Amino acid sequence: MGKTIAVSGKGGVGKSTFATLLVKALSEKSVVLAVDADPNSTLDAMLGVEVNQTIGDLREDLLKNVGDLSPAMSKQDHVDYSLRMAMVEADKFDLVAMGRQEGPGCYCYINNILRTYLDQLSANYDYVVIDNEAGMEHLSRRTTRNVDMMFILSDPTKHGIVTAGRIRELSGSLDLQVKDRCLVISRIAEIPELLSPVIEEAGFDCREVFPEDQNIMESSLTGDPLIDLPADSVAYTRTKEILSKLNI
Ligand SMILES: Nc1ncnc2c1ncn2[C@@H]1O[C@H](COP(=O)(O)OP(=O)(O)OP(=O)(O)O)[C@@H](O)[C@H]1O
Ligand SMILES: [Mg+2]
Repeated sequence: MGKTIAVSGKGGVGKSTFATLLVKALSEKSVVLAVDADPNSTLDAMLGVEVNQTIGDLREDLLKNVGDLSPAMSKQDHVDYSLRMAMVEADKFDLVAMGRQEGPGCYCYINNILRTYLDQLSANYDYVVIDNEAGMEHLSRRTTRNVDMMFILSDPTKHGIVTAGRIRELSGSLDLQVKDRCLVISRIAEIPELLSPVIEEAGFDCREVFPEDQNIMESSLTGDPLIDLPADSVAYTRTKEILSKLNI
């Protein structure tokens, strides 16, 4: 069974950027599944691929067409087939996008199949990297269960770290299995002394920085896929250092 790494944090702190560089680094040597768990995400563009169908789209389609499905195939087969369609296969990694979340109705049967499928799918990879939507709501969803490492990103502000601390706390209080958590302060080269007490109070033993990177700024201006960032970019070098330091 491979390792599952989740990236969480409040809005705009660099979650998808960091998740992309995790995929870039890990896919150099291992088989990686990227999971886009943010309905409004741009992870596919950052990874230089295109998602045509999300798991959410599939769920809606299956529900709409449930009466018209070919009797030659079981419901399970239909779901399996559709899910294969939703998988984007790139050279070095695969990507699946979750899309819209479950609606208020009970789609229990389909949801259960989807969950089982995603669990089974995860087993085929050395690493699963989940880019979460901003905030905390996703923590109560299935996609973030059984996580080996949750990176919680924050900007270098007191309020940011306090929010990251809340996410850390919540991730330990729900029916989630998160083994380790690490605070990653984005767009800064070193942790300012003034933030140390705040970080202590927020309860983070593990703390890292993800520096500001000129190449990232350029690719967000040009729209070039972030995955093609030059190998000597500071943020990428740091991402690899973090992974090796944490034995991931
Ligand atoms: N280390 C960095 N150096 C330079 N720019 C960065 C860095 N990290 C993130 N950015 C820029 O900050 C912006 C927000 O980043 P990103 O989209 O990764 O954040 P996010 O947390 O995923 O946002 P959202 O909550 O909307 O999903 C982007 O324009 C990105 O290029
Ligand atoms: Mg994002």
